[in-house]
Formats: sequence, C-alpha cells, structure tokens
Amino acid sequence: MMICCLRALLLLGAQLLLSGWALTAPTNPNNFFYHDFLDGNGNKEIYFSGVKLHMDSAQASVFAVRRGNATMPCRFWHEPEVSSPREVRVKWSWLPAAGGPETDVLVTIGSRSRSFGEFRGRVQLRQDFPGDAALVMTRLQLNDTGRYRCEVVDGLEDKSTLVYLELRGVVFSYKHPRGHYHLSFLGAKQACEEQDSTLATSTQLFQSWKEGLNWCNAGWLADGTVQYPITRPRVPCGGHGLAPGVRSYGRRHQHLHRYDVFCFSSSLQGKVYYFQPSHKMNLTEARQACQVDGAEIAKVGQLFAAWKLKGLDRCDAGWLADGSVRYPITRPRTNCGPSEPGVQSFGFPPPQHKHGVYCYKPDNE
Ligand SMILES: *[C@@H]1O[C@H](CO)[C@@H](O)[C@H](O)[C@H]1NC(C)=O
Ligand SMILES: *[C@@H]1O[C@H](CO)[C@@H](O)[C@H](O)[C@H]1NC(C)=O
Ligand SMILES: *[C@@H]1O[C@H](CO)[C@@H](O)[C@H](O)[C@H]1NC(C)=O
Repeated sequence: MMICCLRALLLLGAQLLLSGWALTAPTNPNNFFYHDFLDGNGNKEIYFSGVKLHMDSAQASVFAVRRGNATMPCRFWHEPEVSSPREVRVKWSWLPAAGGPETDVLVTIGSRSRSFGEFRGRVQLRQDFPGDAALVMTRLQLNDTGRYRCEVVDGLEDKSTLVYLELRGVVFSYKHPRGHYHLSFLGAKQACEEQDSTLATSTQLFQSWKEGLNWCNAGWLADGTVQYPITRPRVPCGGHGLAPGVRSYGRRHQHLHRYDVFCFSSSLQGKVYYFQPSHKMNLTEARQACQVDGAEIAKVGQLFAAWKLKGLDRCDAGWLADGSVRYPITRPRTNCGPSEPGVQSFGFPPPQHKHGVYCYKPDNE
C-alpha cells in the first residue's frame, strides 16, 4: 500500500516538475499570459499591470524535534522587479499528517497578521528579506506534523507551495496490559498519550520499517488504519511468500475492532535513568523511589526516546509508569536479550514483583 502511494507521490512530483519547467522554459515567449486576455477587452476586466508573481516551487521537507523550532521556507518575487513593495496576502495552512481537514495557521497582509487555533502565539512570518514568507514555528508538538501550504495572493495572482514537516523520533508498538488486541481506536490514542507519545502516522511507521522495525502484531495508526511492518517474512507472520513491507488491514471500525497501537515519541527534554536503591522494589515502592529522587517514574514513550535518541543502554529490567517492566539495549551483548538493539519487554508482571525502576527527570526550565 505504501509503495503504491509513494509511487503516486513520485509521479505527482514529476508532473509538478514538468509543469513548472514548462512555465519557466525560455521557449515560452509570453510569461505574462494575462496580458493578451485582458488588453482591450471591454471595460469590466480588471487592469493587469504586467507584473507577474513567481514562487519557489521546490517542495521542501523540514525535520525538527519536539519542543524545538522549525522554519518552513517560502519565497516569492515579482517579474519584472517592482520598485515599491506591494501589499500581498500570505496564508499558511496545515493538513495534519494524522488526518482531518486543512486548517488555517497564519494569515498576513502587509504588517498585519493573525494566527489560529493551536498555532496562536507559536507562529510568525520570518520576513527577513523582500519576498520572504517563511513560517517560523516554535514549541513544536508531536502532532504538528503534516503538510503546510504557503499561499501568496497578489491581486489577480495566486501561487502556492508545500512544505512537509516531520519530527525526528521513534515509533514503538504498544499493547494493553491485558494483552494483544484489546485497544479500540480511542483507547489506542489514549494509551499513547498516557505514555508521553502520540499515535504514529503511516509515514512514521513506513520510515521505521525502512530502519528495520519488524513487528508481527497489527496496530492502529493516526489515520484510523491498522498496519504492521515486516522486514523478515516468516510463517506465523503472513508466511514466507509475501514480500517484506508495511502490511495494511486498511481502515477499521473505530469502536468495534480491537488491535495494538503504534505510538510515536520524539526528543526528550530531560533525562531517563535506571535507579535501584539498596534493594529491588515492587511497583508502589518504585514510584516512590523516583519521587524521593526528585523525579518521576518514566513513561514508555520516554524510555523509547532515551533509547533511540540518546543511546540509553542498560541491561537491568525496571518498572515503568504503566506497570510494565522493560530495559533498553543499544549495544547487544550476551546475557542481555536478543542480538538486535531494542527496548526489551517483560510485559506487565504482578505489581508485587521486585525490580529496579526507570525514572525521568525533566530539565530545569
Ligand atoms: C526557538 O525560538 C525561540 C524564539 O525565537 C528562541 O527563544 C528559542 O531559543 C528557540 N529554541 C530553540 C531550541 O532553538
Ligand atoms: C496536539 O497535542 C497537544 C499537546 O500534546 C494537545 O494539547 C492537542 O490537543 C493535540 N491536538 C490534536 C488535534 O490532537
Ligand atoms: C509494596 O511493598 C510495600 C511495603 O514495602 C507494601 O506496603 C505495598 O502494598 C506493596 N505494593 C504492592 C503493589 O505489592
């Protein structure tokens, strides 16, 4: 499924490139195509000055980190060059990677601007040089990913370009404490949020599959589809006959159907560490131990982020906030679980069992 869509995207990209080339090709004698159409054409036509609006049409991808900043490029100019600045209208809108309608982000006319919804107070136009319409976003959230459209309107003319925002992070599979395939779509969303993460998007899962994620249990994604990534086909997992890939069950019923979930977590502002006082602890004692240490018991998304983005490596199983017991391995070695890096899990043991604990201490603001 992903392969087909990627292809479609590539084709689309090729077409855009081709049409962009056709418009700017030197063999095209008349870039000012309104001119003929509007000249001497009765009194009702809007006067067209002969100045044409151009825009960088390269579709950029911007990679950023959670709570960081991102600058999404957008540049326009006039031909022939104009001597006095023209009052153009710049509008940025967002199509969430998680699905849902396109929403307004920022509208600017001259020096006046307005931002909308969750973007209020977090976005502004850069305006470093004439024609600079880059969008600067601060305090990025996990769910800000998706497609941003920069649209510039100058009188009759209207140009737009797309920028894709992605966060660097890690995708992990998560299941309900009672076992596999217990989560409705809403339950899945909540489960990720409780573990300091968000539902992964198809793009994020695809990216993780390319990096080697191999998981045999199907999980919900942000767009309401259910998928699983296979890098090494094997018998209990669809059989040897199928090629590696991200397999999709398509869109499932959000209340009736139950699966696991793929969550996405990004960079951590703080530290995850293994903590074990003189003795091992049950779950209650583990929570208290972190508090006494000025921290809190780590969430699953925080442990994955520390493992993937900060290389946390520890061969000791420890309690986590959801009552699971796990340990992060970046350098596989003997007596330390499988031969591949990963966060190993002992599932959800009875809370009276004794282990160490992973704590999380946020950075001082
Ligand atoms: C993000 O931008 C704000 C305001 O421009 C700045 O104060 C802050 O230091 C930036 N943060 C990072 C992580 O670059
Ligand atoms: C995005 O995440 C923020 C912070 O975690 C949350 O407040 C907001 O409701 C989320 N937005 C959507 C559309 O889920
Ligand atoms: C953990 O041990 C304490 C005693 O140190 C006890 O009070 C508590 O009930 C135990 N909790 C669990 C979940 O077993």
